[in-house]
Amino acid sequence: MLLLLSRQVSLSFVKQVIPRSPVLFSKPASLNLRTFKFKVTFSTVFANATIQNIITMPERRPFVRLPTDVYPVNYGLCLKPDLIDFTFEGKLDARIEVVQGTNQIVMNCADIDIITASFAPEGGEEISATGFNYQNEDEKVTLSFPRVLQKGSGSLKIDFVGELNDKMKGFYRSKYASASGEIRYAAVTQFEATDARRAFPCWDEPAIKATFDISLIVPKDRVALSNMNVIDRKPYPEDDSLVEVKFATTPIMSTYLVAFVIGEYDFVESQSSDGIMVRVYTPVGKAEQGKFALEVATKTLPFYKDYFNVPYPLPKIDLIAIADFAAGAMENWGLVTYRETALLIDPKNSCSSSRQWVALVVGHELAHQWFGNLVTMEWWTHLWLNEGFASWIEYLCVDHCFPEYDIWTQFVSADYTRALDLDALDNSHPIEVNVGHPSEVDEIFDAISYSKGASVIRMLHNYIGDEDFRKGMNAYLLKFQHKNASTEDLWDCLEQASGKPIAAVMNSWTKQMGFPIIVVDQEQQGEDRVLKISQKKFCASGPHNGEDCPSWMVPISICSSEDPACTKMKVLLDQPETTVTVPNISPEQWVKINPGTVGFYRIQYSSAMLESLLPGVRDLTLLPVDRLGLQNDLFSLARAGMISTVEVLKLMEAFVNEPNYTVWSDLSCNLGVLSSLLSHTDYHEDIQEFIRDLFTPIGLKLGWDSKPGEGGPQGPGSGHLDALLRGLVLGKLGKAGHKPTLEEARRRFKDHVEGKQILSADLRSPVYLTVLKHGDSTTLDTMFKLHKQADMQEEKNRIERVLGAISAPDLIQRVLTFALSEEVRPQDTVSVIGGVAGSSKHGRKAAWKFVKDNWEELHNRYQGGFLISRLIKLTVDGFAVDKMAAEVKSFFESHHAPAAERTVQQCCENILLNAAWLKRDAEDIHQYFLQRKAPPV
Ligand code: BES
Ligand code: ZN
Repeated sequence: MLLLLSRQVSLSFVKQVIPRSPVLFSKPASLNLRTFKFKVTFSTVFANATIQNIITMPERRPFVRLPTDVYPVNYGLCLKPDLIDFTFEGKLDARIEVVQGTNQIVMNCADIDIITASFAPEGGEEISATGFNYQNEDEKVTLSFPRVLQKGSGSLKIDFVGELNDKMKGFYRSKYASASGEIRYAAVTQFEATDARRAFPCWDEPAIKATFDISLIVPKDRVALSNMNVIDRKPYPEDDSLVEVKFATTPIMSTYLVAFVIGEYDFVESQSSDGIMVRVYTPVGKAEQGKFALEVATKTLPFYKDYFNVPYPLPKIDLIAIADFAAGAMENWGLVTYRETALLIDPKNSCSSSRQWVALVVGHELAHQWFGNLVTMEWWTHLWLNEGFASWIEYLCVDHCFPEYDIWTQFVSADYTRALDLDALDNSHPIEVNVGHPSEVDEIFDAISYSKGASVIRMLHNYIGDEDFRKGMNAYLLKFQHKNASTEDLWDCLEQASGKPIAAVMNSWTKQMGFPIIVVDQEQQGEDRVLKISQKKFCASGPHNGEDCPSWMVPISICSSEDPACTKMKVLLDQPETTVTVPNISPEQWVKINPGTVGFYRIQYSSAMLESLLPGVRDLTLLPVDRLGLQNDLFSLARAGMISTVEVLKLMEAFVNEPNYTVWSDLSCNLGVLSSLLSHTDYHEDIQEFIRDLFTPIGLKLGWDSKPGEGGPQGPGSGHLDALLRGLVLGKLGKAGHKPTLEEARRRFKDHVEGKQILSADLRSPVYLTVLKHGDSTTLDTMFKLHKQADMQEEKNRIERVLGAISAPDLIQRVLTFALSEEVRPQDTVSVIGGVAGSSKHGRKAAWKFVKDNWEELHNRYQGGFLISRLIKLTVDGFAVDKMAAEVKSFFESHHAPAAERTVQQCCENILLNAAWLKRDAEDIHQYFLQRKAPPV
């Protein structure tokens, strides 16, 4: 491992790389790509004018795809990582096809130094390349040959060296401690979207598929894994501490799905009923913690095989937990990599939300093995096909494996409402978006591709019906397997299968950004109810009122109080307005639009219709998902200035008898947004009181301890959901300063710390949060100690995410310093800083200052990482003063983060919307709180 120094210009390792974009939002134990539930915003015409002044759309960076005159057929790739020096040597022997005579080969290449390169035509003489011209900005290299390479097959050989970087992308090193506490490193990969080029020179575009023959030269005591099974393992002749491990040839595949891992791991294994060998690799000594994921994976593979009616094509699949990992998980074909917290479950120390999260992530990544790996998007513009689809079907899969999770209701709160919030911004983007440069590709791993993608697929599935949807899916997978496809290809197959105008309907959802607000009014005509339905674009600052209002093809379902779960009528709204006659509805019945909250739109009912629906919230006759949807719609209408926030607060009080976890969770999230908004005022305490009053009855009903064998408020068999609800409610009460909750939390915390009575995993987050919120430096020291002692990453993350709740300014500063310390894994720093920003007024200011002061280090740490977008959003999205939008904008004008450009624009827009919301409604809210407190006269 010599050669790094001897290279001509070894500039690639010092090159400034481009950060990637937002992948945002912390679910219980992990990070995922579906944006933070930041429900900010609104504005008036006045605020709009301000937004226009501040926000300018990002410029597109120049970009050209690779030339098509040469393409790879097979990559023979041998890599020899050095886990001490953090370098690697590589040898590529690729079978390529020259389509048109040329004396140049252009490939992707970044942070790699080529030592030698040559081409040998089949049966002909080898020609050495005479120049390697690196185009660093474009992440390409041009190999120049002294003669023209003639049309036909040949072999391209390249020797190269690279660095095992610490940026969690490409071929990188991941730190861990051995059983004896010694620090060691594993060598691992993360190639999506455009980082395979950092491990070997290649044609790094999803449509340029080839087969791979991979060999790894590794220390003989290390585990070496790749996409395929091992076919040979032999001593390495030059060094007897090493072995050469050879893997079977892969199917034809895209470069972003290639993976290798070299490190120390244990595993558990099992065979799925369809004969696939499944292994879950864990840190040494923690094999037990792989069992839950193993069980989910072995159930999931046959589920997908059956759903798609296409078998999994590889002989094995490994799921492996990687200590330093930027995303939540990555679907590499046959070797899926995960954050530890997205894969490992300890029966005693993992909480219910972690189990659910692991199930969802496993379901998501395994779906990609078909949808993404077998059939791949033609270009990144169609990324949403991969991510939107996997983000939808993961719920189908979890619903199959764990019906008791009621996961589809959770979808509405976790994905659907989030997507609506983001997509209401002027700085949203269409699902299908033209992208070129890697920083633009990175930017679209966001809630539009994931959550809006999943939501429109859910709407489509509902519109088509499961049977035809599956038929179309199967046709699509069979037609395009081992190939590439675009959005249109999927619509064609679904159109064929269903006979419905799928392309026409779906283009209106994927090619234009935003979504409609459906305005409904009713009239009783004899036995019938006549509905007047119209659509306008919904914006976070109110409905679009201009001339050129876009419109959508909107599948609309209608139900009535006769059977709230049953769709009485379906129409396709394909014009700005229409009239629908629903037969046989008596005058006292209510009529509701969008039962199940499946259609991707907001609804504005006439006052009379809304009045008639509200009792259904209190008496629970509306379905949980519809109670949730109604509340969420009204909240967003309030933010948009279409109704008063006081109306929503009144509605929230009607939820006092609510038994459902997800309904509470969504409500609680919106109250969190309001609370954060009101932290800019002098009556922040009033909303804490409102929260305490609202959550006390359900808190009393649940109590602190689960009652074994007994169904809680959510009915029999709801242990999982009761555990989630208990954690949510106690955390909310504790944070809002509910005295009995605080006292009990302190008592239980003391017993926990003293080892008298260990807190159950589900109670830890709410207890930690409560004691920190009302704690002092001793509490913080104790939490730091618990963090240090924690053996599981889940526990460390749990603590990291609540540290920001501490109130005293000097202690907040200590938390921020801790965020950048060695104690916190690089991917988790953002949630510590984000926790500070999200917890209080002072925290928000301190976190922003900290980010500005440490910008260089943070930016450098996540070079090219979407984590920087997430950090920006978490830190600044909660501001609600106009001048902060200007300050944020100006900071990022002088501190570039190319892949976070859109996020910065969205944040500035949110800040202005918050400011306008506050100006408009704050006084009314204040009066409402005063009235609530006033004794009745
Ligand atoms: N393909 C992504 C991983 C990825 C994310 C690659 C960002 C490059 C950039 C993977 O399938 C994924 O979506 N992972 C999610 C988890 C999922 C359950 C939403 C993630 O990493 O959060
Ligand atoms: Zn995915």
